[in-house]
Amino acid sequence: MKNDMKSILLDSDTIRKRVHELGQEITRDYQDEAPLMICILKGSVVFYADLVREIDLNVGFEFMTASSYGSATVSSGEVKIVSELDNKIVNRHVILVEDIVDSGRTIAYIKNDMLKKGVKSLKVCALLDKPDRRVTDVQADYCGFVIPDEFVVGYGLDFDQKYRNFPHIGVLKNEMYENNAD
Ligand code: IMP
Ligand code: MG
Repeated sequence: MKNDMKSILLDSDTIRKRVHELGQEITRDYQDEAPLMICILKGSVVFYADLVREIDLNVGFEFMTASSYGSATVSSGEVKIVSELDNKIVNRHVILVEDIVDSGRTIAYIKNDMLKKGVKSLKVCALLDKPDRRVTDVQADYCGFVIPDEFVVGYGLDFDQKYRNFPHIGVLKNEMYENNAD
């Protein structure tokens, strides 16, 4: 897979160290609490699995699906969520775990929806933040890395459902998009 990359933006060692720091921050901020960690599938699953093991608290595990992308690299602007969490989030400290905040539409939509349902508190932990592309005023409360406006893959992030298992975060060669443009 490395041959398909134009560049590696964040290697696995760099990611691991930062995820460790995020876990320590969350552990400090939620002392004596049992936050409910919600993994937003599929892109966040690798980050989530690493992050929860860096948190020294009794966290709860939940999963939900959200998608605003088809097979293109530009957001459709439409957010679909699939979730049956309504009862489980009531009166809980919820942490949404997201791979990347890009336009911010996905996270803004989920946040608005959850805030109406009686959570005790709601924070967002995003591995990546692409502030140049933001169209909403949503911010991640915990953020791994701020990155430039480039489409990245690996460590859970995909292009057309591929490269999710690449251990680093990289930028694809242009020809990889051309090969897929059918
Ligand atoms: P938003 O709603 O525009 O913030 O988009 C968030 C979702 O778009 C993320 O959870 C990703 O699944 C996807 N996404 C945004 N940027 C990238 C990228 O550079 N690579 C892969 N997926 C991305
Ligand atoms: Mg996602």
